[in-house]
Amino acid sequence: MFHDWDSRYADLLKDCQGYTIGKQLNLLTDPEIISLAGGLPSPDVFLKDEVRQISKRCLEDDIDRIMQYTRIQGEPAFVEAINQFLKRDNIEASEENILVTNSGQHGLDIVGRLFLNPGDTIIMDRPTFAGAIVAFRMEHPVFVGVDIQEDGSDIDTYRSAIIKLIDEGRKPKFIYVVPDFQNPSGITMSLEKRLALLDLSEEFKVPIVEDSPYRDLRYYGENVPSIYSLDQQRGGAHVIGLYTFSKLFCPGFRIGFNIAPKQVIEMMLNIKEGNVLNTPKYNQDICTAFLSEMNLEGHLEHCRNYYREKLDTFMTTMESLFPAETGVSWTRPEGGLFVWVTLPEHINTDELLYEAVRHKVAFVPGSAFYGENPETNHMRINFSYPSIDQLNTGLERLANCIKGQL
Ligand SMILES: Cc1ncc(COP(=O)(O)O)c(C=O)c1O
Repeated sequence: MFHDWDSRYADLLKDCQGYTIGKQLNLLTDPEIISLAGGLPSPDVFLKDEVRQISKRCLEDDIDRIMQYTRIQGEPAFVEAINQFLKRDNIEASEENILVTNSGQHGLDIVGRLFLNPGDTIIMDRPTFAGAIVAFRMEHPVFVGVDIQEDGSDIDTYRSAIIKLIDEGRKPKFIYVVPDFQNPSGITMSLEKRLALLDLSEEFKVPIVEDSPYRDLRYYGENVPSIYSLDQQRGGAHVIGLYTFSKLFCPGFRIGFNIAPKQVIEMMLNIKEGNVLNTPKYNQDICTAFLSEMNLEGHLEHCRNYYREKLDTFMTTMESLFPAETGVSWTRPEGGLFVWVTLPEHINTDELLYEAVRHKVAFVPGSAFYGENPETNHMRINFSYPSIDQLNTGLERLANCIKGQL
């Protein structure tokens, strides 16, 4: 019998571990544990009846095509619905600028494969989305992280880092940002910084990858234009937009899209041909109906009201549990699903997680969100999935376990 699999794995995969923290958290099957860890939208806002109805109609009307291979770029009706969705955000796209993906993670994987040779550099915020790090790491790049500020990426430091990298002959392949309610910090990039980032991209000819799962989930403050739309207004072609309907609709259908200049989409299409080939028509049809028949604006308003209440609960409870003298601080997001909590430096949240699980609560340790030199005194808290009661109880449990270490 043949057992020697390890020696056969591709060199590029030798240290491939996937989403390690996700795997650890999956082991937590005790139903009494309150999870503030995942990035899950709440099933309370899922459009279940609508999906049941549309699903029945799709299967009755078009089962032959649903059961068949489909167009790789995406179903024309879905691409058209995406165009209308983008128009709400002042983005004009034509069919050739859009590639339907099997979710945001697939969009990231395509970007990594498209641009990265081993050793190439990517500039990104510290912290940034762990799933992007996992996707890009498959290509063995070098991550150059710049500490994020309250109003988003630190553009001056991005600038000096890019200049230094160019001097060293290591010009970054792209800049990766999540400008709206960033995962994990909840921070939103200001308009000034978006424009400055575009200037930087233009000056040094480094494209921007703008990952936007949360744009429509704003609970407070004014909408800030997407970097893609700002670039388009300036007549540029510096930005690749990554979108997913996982957070606005539901993650189960695994649907998203990438938007980019025509020639980039053509290359992405070649990559998609080599990995998933196509996106199930059934999933696209349901998502088309989500965009065009399920009262999109009403649904988003409902989600915003629902999540706003949870965010408010989080803030009030944290303020009562952690007065300033505890040295515990947290971000104050205007939207999204996450808050970033910072503990005094001597507390290591990778270790604290074990203690937290003993207290029957879980979070994601901050170290998962760094491409290099992880900081270990942060945690990401999700407030969208737990009920208000669970959120309060979960935070109390967390406070009990942290207070022993302050
Ligand atoms: C910033 C960001 N990009 C992409 C994704 C991936 O989304 P999906 O579930 O559609 O793969 C997520 C999910 O949490 C995210 O937060």
